[in-house]
Amino acid sequence: MSELFQAALEAIIHRNKEAMGRLLGGGITSDDPLCGLIEAARYSLDSGGKRVRATLGYWAAAAVTSDTLPATDYASCALELIHTYSLIHDDLPAMDDDDLRRGKPSLHKAYDEATAILVGDGLQAKAFELLADAPELSAQQRIAMVKVLAKAAGPAGMVGGQFIDIQATDSDISLEQLKAMHSLKTGALIRASLALGGIAAGASEAQLAALDNYGTHIGLAFQVVDDILDVEGDTATLGKTQGKDSEANKPTYVKLMGLKGAKAEAQRLLADALEALNGFGESADLLRDLARYIVERDR
Ligand code: IPE
Ligand code: IPE
Ligand code: MG
Ligand code: MG
Ligand code: MG
Repeated sequence: MSELFQAALEAIIHRNKEAMGRLLGGGITSDDPLCGLIEAARYSLDSGGKRVRATLGYWAAAAVTSDTLPATDYASCALELIHTYSLIHDDLPAMDDDDLRRGKPSLHKAYDEATAILVGDGLQAKAFELLADAPELSAQQRIAMVKVLAKAAGPAGMVGGQFIDIQATDSDISLEQLKAMHSLKTGALIRASLALGGIAAGASEAQLAALDNYGTHIGLAFQVVDDILDVEGDTATLGKTQGKDSEANKPTYVKLMGLKGAKAEAQRLLADALEALNGFGESADLLRDLARYIVERDR
C-alpha cells in the first residue's frame, strides 16, 4: 500500500471520527438516566473499526465531484452506525457468540446482553435520523438515501443475509447459495455506501450504476477476504477471534472452495470491481486503491 494511500485513508478516517463526535452530540452528565446507554454505544463506536463503509461513501462522492460535501459526513456516519449495530448483534450469544470485537471484549461481554441489543437498536434508528436531517441535500436526495440504506440494512439486505447465515450454520449449501448469502449480509451495505456517496454528490444514473457495479464486486470480495482471514489471520491483528467460522461450522468461501480457490475468487472480484470504474478518470483512484486494500488487508 503506497504511503500516499495510507495518508489519504488516515485523513478520511479522522474526518469520519470527527464527524461522528459532532453529529452524535457531545456531553452527557453522569446523572443522566441514559448515561450507561450512551457510554456503551461509544464503547463500540470509538474502538478501532477500519471504517471501510464510511470511506467508500466519501470516496464514491469524490469520484463524482471535487466539492467537499458536508452531507457526505451524514451519509458516512449513518453507514458506520448501521455497520457497528450489525456487528454488536452479530456477536450476541444467539448469533455468532463472539467474545472479542475490535480488539476488546464484545459489547455484551463488557456490558450485558440487554444493553448490547438496545445499543444496536439505537444505533440503527440514529442512522436514519442523521440521513433525514442531512443539510444541503434536497428532500428528494434525503428520501433516496433513507430508502437505499433501509433496503440494504433490512430483510432484502444485511438482516436477510444474517438470517440465511444462521439457518445455514451446520448445514451444506451450494456455492450459489453462499454467494447470495454473502452478497446480502455484507455486500448490500457496501453497495449502499457507494450509493449514498453518489447520491450526496449528485451522481448521474450512469455513474450510480458504475458505482453499484464496483460495490457489488468489492462487497462480495470483502466477505470472501473476511472468510480467508478467519483461517489465516491471527486474533491479535484481527481484533476478533480467529478460527470461529470452522469452530461454529459456518458455510464460508474457504469451506466450499478451499483457501486457494477463495483467494483466486477474491482476485477475480477485485479485477471486476476495477473494471467497473473504467468510465471514471483519476477521481476514482482512491476507490481503486481501496479495492486493492480490501482484498490485500490483514485485518
Ligand atoms: C466485519 O466488518 C464484518 C463483515 C461484514 C465481514 P469489518 O471488517 O469492516 O469490521 P470493522 O468495522 O473494521 O471492525
Ligand atoms: C458478519 O459476518 C456480517 C454482518 C452483517 C455483521 P461475520 O459473522 O463473518 O463477521 P465477523 O467475522 O464476526 O466480523
Ligand atoms: Mg456472523
Ligand atoms: Mg461473526
Ligand atoms: Mg467473519
